[in-house]
Amino acid sequence: MNPSFALIGSTDRQVEQQLRGRGFTVVMWLERDLAVRALQASPGVQFVMIDLRDNGSLPPGLDSFSRQHPSVPVLLLLSSLDPAVMLEAMRSGVKECLQFPFSAEELDAAISRLAAARETGPGGDIFAFLGAKGGVGTTTAAVNVATELSRLQSRSVLLVDLHLAYGDAAIYLGAEPRYSIADALENTHRLDSAFLKSLCVKSKAGPELLASPDRNLALPVDAGRVRTLVEAAARAYHFVVLDLCRTDPAVLDGLDPVKKIVVIANQELATVRMAMTLNQRYGRDRVALAVSRYDPNAGIGQEDIERVVGSKIRYLLPSDYRVALEALNTGRPLALNNQTRLAGALKLLARELAEHPSEGESVKPGRSIFGRLTGRS
Ligand SMILES: Nc1ncnc2c1ncn2[C@@H]1O[C@H](COP(=O)(O)OP(=O)(O)O)[C@@H](O)[C@H]1O
Ligand SMILES: [Mg+2]
Repeated sequence: MNPSFALIGSTDRQVEQQLRGRGFTVVMWLERDLAVRALQASPGVQFVMIDLRDNGSLPPGLDSFSRQHPSVPVLLLLSSLDPAVMLEAMRSGVKECLQFPFSAEELDAAISRLAAARETGPGGDIFAFLGAKGGVGTTTAAVNVATELSRLQSRSVLLVDLHLAYGDAAIYLGAEPRYSIADALENTHRLDSAFLKSLCVKSKAGPELLASPDRNLALPVDAGRVRTLVEAAARAYHFVVLDLCRTDPAVLDGLDPVKKIVVIANQELATVRMAMTLNQRYGRDRVALAVSRYDPNAGIGQEDIERVVGSKIRYLLPSDYRVALEALNTGRPLALNNQTRLAGALKLLARELAEHPSEGESVKPGRSIFGRLTGRS
């Protein structure tokens, strides 16, 4: 199937023919179709072109359409490149403005920039860490897995602290972020790779960090925004590691793009029961069960946990409070040295998630321009 353009407000067959001549399917939309599509899960098209030559104002549904479908770039056709109109357009999520009349080269250049904005590549792998309760060692696992992943063939890795407030991943990485997920979640309509990367901070240990905010968000967060953020992260990095909070429903509902969810429990009955619930919610194939601070002499043993949760324990992270605490207090993840059993277990976890990529192997294969347009390799 050819990639499709929705064309809005154009009475000029010439524009339509130019798009068709480049292999696009063109569907004619009314302005109100934008508002209708903004309420739907699927945008129905890959690109939108709005012809504003006969009409000075942007369609009212544009803003909400761009928020709901950030992967569908919008091109604006104008009779003059008025800076005020262009600024307003960009704020509403428009990616490109093209002045009429345009040359074939100008249209080609605009379309390839739109295709780049779409960035529909297969994206990096996303791994989420979800504690069955607070304090079980979730952030410790997420930070160390992210650190180890960034050491595997120098892949780009982003750790996203998805606690909507007061997450502590920055402390574990010794990082001092200026921005946070609040800036990303409040601006999902313009969350391309460049903007996302500008919000992240590089850590000495290797991974970049998109931190948790130390302020309240300016708007309510829903699963759509979380999903948009997670998808944008996967387009921009080879690996994305999420440090999740079990008590944020919008976060738990926005995890469709996640490849593996590592549920972390310990040997307490309450966390084992919660692990069972999470295992059921996300399905055995997607969940890997890990037990942290594992003590072989504890009353609840490995088999008891497996029986209750209904899955095998994939990872046992030994208990080593002194080493874990020292890493936290120095802001130096323990995966940076290989001396302890806990570090070894965390590094193994990272390598298994990454499926032991061998030296020189490419996670992101190159894609043709048509592949990028259609979302296929
Ligand atoms: N395997 C472990 N053994 C001993 N202590 C640990 C272990 N993992 C984490 N800790 C310690 O437990 C505390 C909470 O860990 P953290 O990773 O922040 O948990 P969570 O993110 O689940 O709240 C920290 O002091 C940390 O150093
Ligand atoms: Mg934590």
